[in-house]
Amino acid sequence: MELIIQRDKAAAAALVARIVAHEVRTNPCTVLGLATGSTMEAVYAHLVRMHRETKLDFSGVRTFNLDEYVGLAPDDPNSYRHFMNEHLFKQVNIHLQNTHLPNGRAADLGAECRDYEKLMADAGGIDLQLLGIGKSGHIGFNEPLSALKSRTREKALTPTTIKQNAPFFGGEDKMPRRAITMGVGTILDARRCLLLATGEAKADIIAQAVEGPITSMVTASALQLHAKATVIVDEAAAAKLKEREYYRWIFANEPEWEGYR
Ligand code: F6R
Repeated sequence: MELIIQRDKAAAAALVARIVAHEVRTNPCTVLGLATGSTMEAVYAHLVRMHRETKLDFSGVRTFNLDEYVGLAPDDPNSYRHFMNEHLFKQVNIHLQNTHLPNGRAADLGAECRDYEKLMADAGGIDLQLLGIGKSGHIGFNEPLSALKSRTREKALTPTTIKQNAPFFGGEDKMPRRAITMGVGTILDARRCLLLATGEAKADIIAQAVEGPITSMVTASALQLHAKATVIVDEAAAAKLKEREYYRWIFANEPEWEGYR
C-alpha cells in the first residue's frame, strides 16, 4: 500500500483526478470503478474541467459504480445513479450505455448482484477502482464484518453510515437501510485501487485502515492485501498516522510520483 499526503482537500482531489486522467489517456478503453459521496465531488469536477479544457476523452471508457441504495429509482435525487449522471456522466462524452450501477429496484436483488459481477467480468475486470472511506471504515458499503472475500450482494447499513448519510435524505427515518455493494473481494480484484479521504473526521479511521491490522471490522484495511493500492489523503485526514514523515518522503522522492509533484 502507498500513502500519499497532500496539503489540503483540493490538492488531494486534484491528484486523484490526474491519476484517473492519465489512466484514460494511456488506455482510452479503460474500465473505471467509481464511487459516490461528497469526497468524490471535487474529483469529478476536475475530470469535467479536463474534458472541457484538454479534451479528455471518455468515449471509449466503461464504468462500474461500487454501490446503490436498495429501493431507490434511478431518477431519485438521492440515488447514486442520479449523483453520477449529474456530477460526471452528463458533463463528459461518455456513452450512458457504458455506465453501470447496480439496480436497487430489481425484483430479484440476488440475481441483480450475480449479473453485476458477470457484467464486470465480461468487461475484462476493473482497471482502476476509485474509493472513499466511510466513518465505519467501509469501502463501498462493506460495513464491519463484511467477509474479505465477499462479492456483490445486498448489505444492511450500520447506524454510523445511516448517521453519516442521513443529511442528504433530510433525516435518518427517510434513509434506506440496505444497499447493493460490490464485495471486498470484488474490489480487491481491480488492477489498481485508489482511495481518497479528506478532512479531520476521517483521521481516526484512516489510521486504523492503513496502520492497523487487517480486519473485517474496518474493511478498508483489506487494501493492505492489494498489490497496487494507493491511499491519498490531505493533512487533516493524515493527522493520526504514525509514519507521516516516511509517506511525505515517498511522494517527494519516488520516481513514480515525479510527474505529479
Ligand atoms: C459511495 C461509497 C462510500 C463512500 C464513503 C465516503 O459510493 O462507496 O464508501 O465513498 O461513505 O463518503 P463521503 O465521501 O461522503 O464521506
